[in-house]
Amino acid sequence: MGLPQREVPLSMPDFVGYDPLGCGRNKLFRGHTTMKRNFLMGAAALASLATLSACGGNKAEQAPAPAATETAAAAAPAATPEPAAGEKLEYASFTTDVAAGEKVFALCRSCHVLDDGVNRVGPSLYNVVGRASGSVAGFSYSDANKNSGVTWSEDVLFEYLKDPKGFMPGTKMAFPGIKDDQDRANLVAYLASTKK
Ligand code: HEC
Repeated sequence: MGLPQREVPLSMPDFVGYDPLGCGRNKLFRGHTTMKRNFLMGAAALASLATLSACGGNKAEQAPAPAATETAAAAAPAATPEPAAGEKLEYASFTTDVAAGEKVFALCRSCHVLDDGVNRVGPSLYNVVGRASGSVAGFSYSDANKNSGVTWSEDVLFEYLKDPKGFMPGTKMAFPGIKDDQDRANLVAYLASTKK
């Protein structure tokens, strides 16, 4: 008799041969893994089930199932959310730390103060959250900033401060931006907390 001489697509041995937990007990099926690449993601959940049963006993229970880990990560109020490619990263999705944000503001102090009407290299950031761009009296803005038409909401600041020149081409704010999303969110929360 023997095995049927035809390609069986995605039979159990194929799944078991995929060994995401590395328990290595299913060597029997190694080499039968002819699973196509595009099946890999969809098959991952099934594969982990198959692998759990393949590992058997306590070892399997101790092994972290990938599916469970993903669920936990999604459920936790993620400190560093990772949106899918192309999805916009929202300020609101962060849990912010105002005290940490105050430390980040050290990056701004060389050019900005928070006192009302006090302009340095940059305009006063007094009540900046909710303020119209280019509206501080006595500060000589670039046209780009003055005419941008933006309102400095938390969301806009969060985006702007990542890459000021990218967000506002022509701005004379000589600052490369804060790439770390959590640091930037904390800073924006701090700025919001200074609002009077
Ligand atoms: C090297 C100096 C410098 C640093 C550092 C700097 N800025 Fe600025 N900033 C400026 C200047 C100059 C402008 C005015 C830009 C223009 O007119 O084009 C400005 C403008 C701004 C504006 C627009 C204000 C308005 O009234 O429209 C905001 C908001 C701002 N900065 C926030 C920050 C924050 C927050 C930081 C720290 C992360 C920071 N800046 C760091 C120089 C700086």
